[in-house]
Amino acid sequence: MKALLLTVATLVPGALCAQGLVDAAVEKKVDALLRQMSLEEKVGQLNQYSSNLDLTGPAPTQGAQKEMFDQVRQGKLGSLLNVTGAEATRKAQELAVEGSRLKIPLIFGLDVIHGYRTMFPVPLGEAASFDLALIERSARVAATEAAAAGVHWTFAPMVDIARDARWGRVMEGAGEDPFLGAQVAAARVRGFQGKDLAAIDTIAACVKHYAGYGFGQAGRDYNTVDLSEHTLRNVVLPPFKAAVDAGVATAMNSFNEIGGVPATGSVHLQREILKGEWGFAGFVVSDWGSIGEMVPHGYVENLEQAARVAMVAGSDMDMESRAYVSHLLGLVRSGAVDEKLVDDAVRRVLRVKFRLGLFDDPYRYSDAAREQRVLADPTHQTAALEVARASIVLLKNEGGLLPLDKGARTIAVIGPLAADKDSPLGGWRAQAQSNSAVSLLEGIQAAVSPATRVVHAEGAKLAKGRRGFVFELTFNTDDRSGFAAAVEAARGADVVVMGLGEDGFQTGEGRSQVDIGLKGLQEELLRAVLEVNKKVVVVLMNGRPLAIPGVVEAVSAVVEAWHGGSQAGHAIAQVLFGHYNPSGKLPMSFPRHVGQLPFSYDHKSTGRPNPVPMVFWSHYTDAPNEPQFPFGFGLSYTTFSYSDPLLSAAEMSRDGELRVSVTLTNSGSRAGAEVAQLYVRDLVGSVTRPVKELKGFQKVELAAGESREVVFTLKASDLAFYTAAGRWEAEPGAFKVFVGGNSRDLKGAGFSLR
Ligand code: BGC
Repeated sequence: MKALLLTVATLVPGALCAQGLVDAAVEKKVDALLRQMSLEEKVGQLNQYSSNLDLTGPAPTQGAQKEMFDQVRQGKLGSLLNVTGAEATRKAQELAVEGSRLKIPLIFGLDVIHGYRTMFPVPLGEAASFDLALIERSARVAATEAAAAGVHWTFAPMVDIARDARWGRVMEGAGEDPFLGAQVAAARVRGFQGKDLAAIDTIAACVKHYAGYGFGQAGRDYNTVDLSEHTLRNVVLPPFKAAVDAGVATAMNSFNEIGGVPATGSVHLQREILKGEWGFAGFVVSDWGSIGEMVPHGYVENLEQAARVAMVAGSDMDMESRAYVSHLLGLVRSGAVDEKLVDDAVRRVLRVKFRLGLFDDPYRYSDAAREQRVLADPTHQTAALEVARASIVLLKNEGGLLPLDKGARTIAVIGPLAADKDSPLGGWRAQAQSNSAVSLLEGIQAAVSPATRVVHAEGAKLAKGRRGFVFELTFNTDDRSGFAAAVEAARGADVVVMGLGEDGFQTGEGRSQVDIGLKGLQEELLRAVLEVNKKVVVVLMNGRPLAIPGVVEAVSAVVEAWHGGSQAGHAIAQVLFGHYNPSGKLPMSFPRHVGQLPFSYDHKSTGRPNPVPMVFWSHYTDAPNEPQFPFGFGLSYTTFSYSDPLLSAAEMSRDGELRVSVTLTNSGSRAGAEVAQLYVRDLVGSVTRPVKELKGFQKVELAAGESREVVFTLKASDLAFYTAAGRWEAEPGAFKVFVGGNSRDLKGAGFSLR
């Protein structure tokens, strides 16, 4: 085993107060409590189990249940995950507070990823809104509901940059871009944590998965990651840094190794960068069993060594490996682990518990009356509707098929997802009730006038058999018994709306796929419908970018609605009928073919970027390099035009500013909102720079015919990157700046940095 070096200096963050987690009065209390704690009690604070406790029945007298009850009473547990509800959390808290010597409250964690009871669109969908205030509001509502149900802590935001749509967890993040990812990360932290962690409607956030988890080879979950420091710093880390700067209370490390070192055992990631360079003062929780998984990774021989490596590396709390509870005591006693490391970890955990107000009143989150009231709050559904419709991206609309005519006589609503009330809830759905979403069919039925007949036919099921959080999905590839009815429905309709895409459990953890087209018989069903009716609108409901060039080609209109949450059907109907003019933009490129993955718009130039008459340039011989729909792309029912960008100067000094202005015009005949995007290219660097990088965006609402000047201000810090010298700074030289409505269709100008 390798020697692990550690200086105690890395235990003491340099910029403790920067994130507002450290408060002198709280630190005093933490230290006083720490002095009273035995080593066993300290280790207890670092131990987290998933609750399978029957907390509402009679107290157990034997078996595993009794053992866990006893551990809580003995202070051998600092946290439980997956215990929710005011009643259950109160019971569990009673065990800890009334049973244990020092009465240290438990902290209850849960994956509140895009809502607790009220579901918002999956995070990838929310990111498509490019609306930070809305994203913050969604997290605020989720926190309010979770906090009312006794939850103190969410394992979100997930900020993994994701460029491989084969990976099922792309649904949980904000997509492929570090700049957008950083903005969204901070907005979510603000939403969950509010202004005051101690308020009863705020919960601690947890930025995850630290780090590189989105770069698993070939898009396979939990797979090996090999990232250069360059990519780590420039692409992967910015959203984590943004979350830390926004005051995130906790971080979760990740399952993957990077360059041969499991993230959970990485001194570099956790002690040097997170707690050292960034001065993160909260605590790091391991991912589920990730301390123990260092054994199968082949990094340590056994759980005891895993405990030592993880503690030395700065993993403060052990989720479900039972490595700390089994071995940390012995490791400290034998001198293999310095007790100062344990003290530092415990101090971090206690700090967050104090900041949450748990020592003032450990039951403050567990109030059954508040829980009932808050979970039924109708304004949460309104918020879910607003976020869902802002997340919708109009991908194609040829011949103005959309918006639909409200006076249509017959609308056929067809497809496996058309009447599905469950899939729109998406993956990671916390305490959402199954089948509780408004379906596409219901949304359309509610929106049409009484004169319109809405006919429905499923056509074909998407999946067969069991579905759910832990099951593999089996797709329907042979049952076409519903085709005839679907074709009949389509034949007589003025227009057909087809609900296609992915099952709600098709994305998320453990759901990688080699094929990102439409599964099962969906495309075949679409072709059968097109035989009898060409007026087809495809509404996609999915959690990852899809590669569906044939589908896009075959129909006139495509609407990307993601897994849109509780109000999905109403949100889609508002877009289909033009009550809401879509303004979402893709946070992840949609490739033409899975073979283009991993893909991102901000790729490097290569030495052979341009076509030549021979084959010797960087391209595919059987497909274009370009994606089907680029990052930042999305249409509207109106059109927008951009003037050439005007720069306030041709040069910018290191401490100066540059204003980039464009005139944005709504050149169509309806009011609408456009996300104006600013990209920059640094032409020459000490390390090569991407062909363009997003550096700003603004959502602008314009009446028909209206023009407005949109101004972006660039500072040298916006041009900074991790240089060959290992510093985060801007390098002087020539730059290009581009403005436009997506990452492909841009107008540019040049300037230089002195
Ligand atoms: C996931 C985490 C999650 C944790 C607790 C793990 O399997 O990777 O994202 O927070 O489980 O549910």
